[in-house]
Amino acid sequence: MHPAAPQPALHSRSNGSLTLSARGPTLLPPAVVAVPLLPKPRLDEADRFFDIYRRPEVVRWIGAEPIQDHGEASAMIEPNFTRLDADSRFGSWAVIDRSSGVPVGSIILKPLPDGEGEVEIGWQLHPDSWGKGFASEAASAVLDRGFADGLPEVRAVTYPDNTRSVAVCRRIGMQLLGITRRWYHEPSLMFWTGSRPGQEPSLRPDQPAPAELFET
Ligand SMILES: CC(C)(COP(=O)(O)OP(=O)(O)OC[C@H]1O[C@@H](n2cnc3c(N)ncnc32)[C@H](O)[C@@H]1OP(=O)(O)O)[C@@H](O)C(=O)NCCC(=O)NCCS
Repeated sequence: MHPAAPQPALHSRSNGSLTLSARGPTLLPPAVVAVPLLPKPRLDEADRFFDIYRRPEVVRWIGAEPIQDHGEASAMIEPNFTRLDADSRFGSWAVIDRSSGVPVGSIILKPLPDGEGEVEIGWQLHPDSWGKGFASEAASAVLDRGFADGLPEVRAVTYPDNTRSVAVCRRIGMQLLGITRRWYHEPSLMFWTGSRPGQEPSLRPDQPAPAELFET
């Protein structure tokens, strides 16, 4: 993980799930569990995914339009599985609130579109579960899992004004490299983290990000 990363994530794996428990100096009980998603999600997951992807305040950040029905949710989710099947280090996880058992969103590790093996981590949560640290906790566990499985580096690509997503990148120790149009048409911020201390990114951005974005 990048040297600027927060405390190492403590995670354990059982039944295919990941849990994470360290947030700074106090050891707290894990708040979320990340469970591998199946091509046909559980009914409660499918309902929640529909309720996530029908919301403009969520889909505006992934360059999509709000979906209208459950069929569209499946059509949005299922193509990912084809790409994820290509490499066992990729995956998609439902994030479950441990206290309530409610699915709150998902985290994905997948190849960037039309790339040369570059890997992206992404996150989407239901707005009723923002502001609780769930995304950062689950993303950190998924990142650790990716590195443990042999991914050398992982990127996150986000609109420059997506301040919540930018904050997640920083919380999980990703480094802002600059702006890129390499994988998506819109100019995006490229965050990066490598599996080894002192590692350098294999790719550079197209241009630097505005200076104020480098201030933490
Ligand atoms: C991006 C997204 C996942 C971020 O969710 P989030 O809840 O803001 O992120 P985190 O899980 O890191 O939570 C951090 C917040 O929880 C708070 N928090 C509460 N308890 C916490 C804890 N124990 N540990 C860490 N943070 C905690 C933090 O103070 C912070 O609050 P703030 O929003 O007031 O600053 C969410 O906004 C989202 O789904 N957006 C739409 C989709 C999207 O943009 N996806 C990314 C496309 S690139």
